Amino acid sequence: MTVLTTPRLSLRPLTPADLPAVLAYRNDPQVARYQGWALPATLEAAAALVADAPLGTPGWVQRGVWAGARLAGDVALNTDSWRQQAEVGVTLAAWAQGQGYAAEALRAVMAHAFDDLGLHRLQASADPRNGAVARLLTRLGFRHEGTSLRSCWHRDEWADDARYGLLRSEWTP
Ligand SMILES: CC(C)(COP(=O)(O)OP(=O)(O)OC[C@H]1O[C@@H](n2cnc3c(N)ncnc32)[C@H](O)[C@@H]1OP(=O)(O)O)[C@@H](O)C(=O)NCCC(=O)NCCS
Repeated sequence: MTVLTTPRLSLRPLTPADLPAVLAYRNDPQVARYQGWALPATLEAAAALVADAPLGTPGWVQRGVWAGARLAGDVALNTDSWRQQAEVGVTLAAWAQGQGYAAEALRAVMAHAFDDLGLHRLQASADPRNGAVARLLTRLGFRHEGTSLRSCWHRDEWADDARYGLLRSEWTP
């Protein structure tokens, strides 16, 4: 199992014992506002986040993000079946936001994806009203490639979907 570490964080698989902490932040309305999971998030649904498959395994693979002993949130990589491209996702508990943890965690995932897994391209998708994630992705070097209008059915309304991309050839750690 690959554990990714950064100066302040450790990224490793979630275990069933972590799920109450995961539910606490995933059921926070501010954290969930632009995310796709059903509310309230349940132990049953969150159990799908527990997986020790290596990052780069086709499909979504989640990692918990620890700041010291405290679970700050989770990151994920959704790799396509040819193992060439992947989508990144990130969620932080409210207390962990505004400290650069998301950028630090995603940089580690991006370095792993490009340098170790040899992926060709990373992408991300976000609601354009989610200013924090737009700033985050731009800071990390992602290009806004376009926005599909009213293309996602999200929490009882049609929402826009902003698409971001970054090629390995454009990646500067
Ligand atoms: C998207 C999300 C992860 C971004 O978190 P974040 O805390 O804004 O991002 P970072 O952890 O990289 O922190 C950067 C912010 O901390 C500030 N900061 C403070 N101290 C810092 C430090 N030591 N280093 C870096 N940044 C620091 C930065 O100025 C920046 O603030 P700004 O965006 O207002 O300019 C967070 O808003 C979240 O979890 N939202 C809910 C889930 C969600 O919508 N996820 C997106 C799915 S696509």
